[in-house]
Amino acid sequence: KTKIVCIETLDRTAEKNLNDLASLIKNGGTVVFPTETVYGLGADALNPQAIKKIFAAKGRPDDNPLIVHIADLNDVQRLVAEIPEKAKTLMKVFWPGPLTIIMEKAAVIPTEVTAGLNTVGVRFPDHPIAQAFIKTAGCPIAAPSANRSGRPSPTQGKHVLEDLDGRVDGIILSSDAELGLESTVIDMTIDPPVVLRPGDITLAELREVLGEVKVSTNVTENVIPEKVSSPGMKYTHYSPNGDLVVVKGTATEIREKIIKLLSNYKGKPMTIGVLASNETMADYQEGLIISLGSQSDPGEMAKNLFARLRTFDELGVEKIYAEDIPLNNETLALINRLYKAAGYTFI
Ligand code: TXA
Ligand code: MG
Repeated sequence: KTKIVCIETLDRTAEKNLNDLASLIKNGGTVVFPTETVYGLGADALNPQAIKKIFAAKGRPDDNPLIVHIADLNDVQRLVAEIPEKAKTLMKVFWPGPLTIIMEKAAVIPTEVTAGLNTVGVRFPDHPIAQAFIKTAGCPIAAPSANRSGRPSPTQGKHVLEDLDGRVDGIILSSDAELGLESTVIDMTIDPPVVLRPGDITLAELREVLGEVKVSTNVTENVIPEKVSSPGMKYTHYSPNGDLVVVKGTATEIREKIIKLLSNYKGKPMTIGVLASNETMADYQEGLIISLGSQSDPGEMAKNLFARLRTFDELGVEKIYAEDIPLNNETLALINRLYKAAGYTFI
């Protein structure tokens, strides 16, 4: 049975609950905890048996490596073979925060964590409860996003309960995730460094600090990647149950295409949805229209994406048309997740 606690602020009751759930980790169990990006499904990163439980609970293919979470800068040293100078700079500027740094792994990291790779991704989350939990557990915590494999990542407590209640030893429920998309992943084992997964820490921010930074072609190409440098990239991700398609074109073209598509389904017993924006919602008269947020606030749209995809599922929507989003430095991560959720299908 899953032990579920709710922690909003770090008071005395929270401290007791944290101790209880941290002891589940110490005993080789699995516990879901909140972070600023998405909820994580954690276990002792140095315990191979505990790591296997993460893969089992998620239904995750075991060739997809996990991120190791720490709550103290001094912990990096023993987890990696060496810390490149540029990685130290990143830690100073962006940690704690939504940035995962790939480095050569130290021998203490079990191969179960890294899926056999000789590198490890390390992250210091910027969330008071995550930090307190990791400190109380007293070990680095390996944690993927706390969703069943293939489902949209969990940004709210109810998403975690939907996917993992009964499948993990403990769950810490808290406020909704502030950012809503997973951390930026950057490979620092090569120079120039390569962004493997875009996130809230943008390319422009990274380049300002590091100079040249490359982006994995898995991110830049709008096709299902064949050659993978981050194993997680090749699997279907974030998908709602309904069939999600991204509608491309100019703003006018997108609107006209969607209106036409909706009219095709008129009178048919199929539930159609549109993932629109505050600015475009009123353009559509049929179907279940849901706004991702304001087009002028990419942060708000990012925070809402996974929750909105799950809302379509709750409403039993079978076909979802998502308006495409103009690409810029601030929207790269959002677009990356949207396209993946759509399995790179476009109209
Ligand atoms: O924000 C986040 O990063 C969240 C929270 C819980 O911290 N975690 C998360 O974990 O998103 P996960 O497992 O869902 O995604 C980890 C990503 C995968 O794409 C994986 O392939 C990549 O990081 N990754 C992990 N270790 C790697 C490594 N050694 N080399 C290349 N890619 C790696
Ligand atoms: Mg994930």
